[in-house]
Amino acid sequence: MLRLAIFFFVLSIKEVTLGNRGCMGNKATAVARLSPGMKPKCHIKARCEIYPRSQIKRFPVPDDKVPWTTKFPEYKPVDYTSESILKRPVYADPDIRTEKVDPPLSFNGCDGKINRVSHMGDYELVDGIPRNPQGRTGLMGRGTLGRWGPNHAADPIVTRWKVDESGKIIKGPDGKPVLQFVSVQRRDNHQWALPGGMVDAGEVVTATVRREFGEEAMNSIQMSSEEKKRMEKELDELFATGREIFRGYVDDPRNTDNSWMETVAFNFHDEDGSCLGKINLCAGDDAMNVRWTDLSGTLDLYASHVDFLEEVAKFHNASW
Ligand code: BGC
Repeated sequence: MLRLAIFFFVLSIKEVTLGNRGCMGNKATAVARLSPGMKPKCHIKARCEIYPRSQIKRFPVPDDKVPWTTKFPEYKPVDYTSESILKRPVYADPDIRTEKVDPPLSFNGCDGKINRVSHMGDYELVDGIPRNPQGRTGLMGRGTLGRWGPNHAADPIVTRWKVDESGKIIKGPDGKPVLQFVSVQRRDNHQWALPGGMVDAGEVVTATVRREFGEEAMNSIQMSSEEKKRMEKELDELFATGREIFRGYVDDPRNTDNSWMETVAFNFHDEDGSCLGKINLCAGDDAMNVRWTDLSGTLDLYASHVDFLEEVAKFHNASW
């Protein structure tokens, strides 16, 4: 029995690792799928009136004019790429509309370690510029996103059951047990969110979720090497098993007609709370606060993070 369990454990780790190779030398294969049961919704936050960290007003796009297949002759998206992106930080592409880039960027493929493959399948190029697969956003250019096309992130959803002082699981108004997840308050907009982050060039998403959890929810950047070692050990146990909950387009307020966010979200669940008891939450890096939050349908979170949590609640048959 134990052998069988170990076999399946190793198999599941392999699947997670191989399924998320990114661009590590060989060309990545496009995984054109959302996690089972999840349909892409019409994006809303990607059409927010004022673009984040700016005074720029998007061209208004009514729901029925979102799909590119619907005619919208009066559509005149605002053109905006932030000053900081135009200064070319390491993670930002060149401005391919004004500079000649040779060789051209490999859209729908990999540029060395940079993964330009979308989880949604091949995206269209119009005059050589990627087009948002979910439709119009009222803004063209890259806004505050570094990459043309998909900008890849990864999100850890770390969960445990909510218990009372005697250790008994607490039930929600629907009579189902309540799950809790680790949430962080983002420094950029003060909204509560998952402690995720951008996938570094050449990094596999499973490494990103672990690194981001360490940086944002445990403040690993400020740790001594001794403390870091201890933390790594604690995280080994927690992150040994994970279930992919979502993979695809994120309805993020930074999205534009030419640049958008995609993520892979994993659930790491501590069924009996034994592993998480040892973990000391402490906000760091892009997070200003960290806390355990009850899962519920009334949550108001950054981007489309609530949708991922609904999937987690369904999977564990938890209160929502
Ligand atoms: C965040 C992720 C989020 C992604 C898409 C990243 O900046 O760190 O948590 O899923 O953006 O919204």
